[in-house]
Amino acid sequence: MTSQVRPLEAETDATQALEAGHVLWSQAPLFTLTAPERPLLSSAVLARGKNVSFDPATGAVGGSALTGEAAGSLKTMLARFSDEALALVGRVFPGYRQRVERRRTSFRPIEVAGRASSWRQDDTRLHLDSFPASPVRGQRILRVFANVNPEGRPRSWRIGEDFEAVGRRYAPKLRMPAPGSALLLRAFGITKSRRSAYDAMMLQLHDLMKADNAYQQDAPQTAFDFPAGSTWMAFTDQVSHAAMAGQYQLEQTFLLPVDAMRAPGQSPLRILERLLARPLL
Ligand code: SIN
Ligand code: FE
Repeated sequence: MTSQVRPLEAETDATQALEAGHVLWSQAPLFTLTAPERPLLSSAVLARGKNVSFDPATGAVGGSALTGEAAGSLKTMLARFSDEALALVGRVFPGYRQRVERRRTSFRPIEVAGRASSWRQDDTRLHLDSFPASPVRGQRILRVFANVNPEGRPRSWRIGEDFEAVGRRYAPKLRMPAPGSALLLRAFGITKSRRSAYDAMMLQLHDLMKADNAYQQDAPQTAFDFPAGSTWMAFTDQVSHAAMAGQYQLEQTFLLPVDAMRAPGQSPLRILERLLARPLL
């Protein structure tokens, strides 16, 4: 079965739907740009890479080419989006309110379609999110997205099969990390903390899926266009997804401990531990 995209407003129990692996989307204008922010919708704000990042804890903006007043409006926009995303999560998933940890905010001002990149970086391939440098040790990756395209263009995604199916398909190919490898990765500064076996499994899944051309074509999947002005949320460590087209998107990442879920058995951690019959932390 593929994960479904469901209207948030029709959901009687949003937490249950999210934990079951659905994407919840809303046409309600969660986030609107102010007039002075409109010029920020330009790929010229980027100094390098594919997104501008913002750390709500420190107020630091990374990857922007802007200076002076324009840099100030960019930071204000990112901070406001981040605050609104946090408030949204608190409203929609009240049980998570005290437990979510707010991480990076990102702004993606370039067209997704037709961008050249290596297969591993290529988010037009179905994948699960996993952070190579920042181990999460089983914590959930919850993301809020807003399509702020000013020309009415949608953000086009593909949504793949549910986590259990992905896990089952690739479990025979998963390899436990060599003893001591986590210490080495940490010592060489490749990871910011020790990479757990869980993080190693999730990175392998990410790579196995993206490298598998037959899977990309043939896996159960559905296409969904998130309209301009809409907002959506998902556990992107659980929902197989690919971004095919679109320009100008804001995104806020949160981490949530597994024990803050209502049904922790639905977490990738618990599912992988069951499929592999071993603890991963
Ligand atoms: C991703 O998280 O894979 C990309 C999502 C997007 O840019 O729409
Ligand atoms: Fe992703």
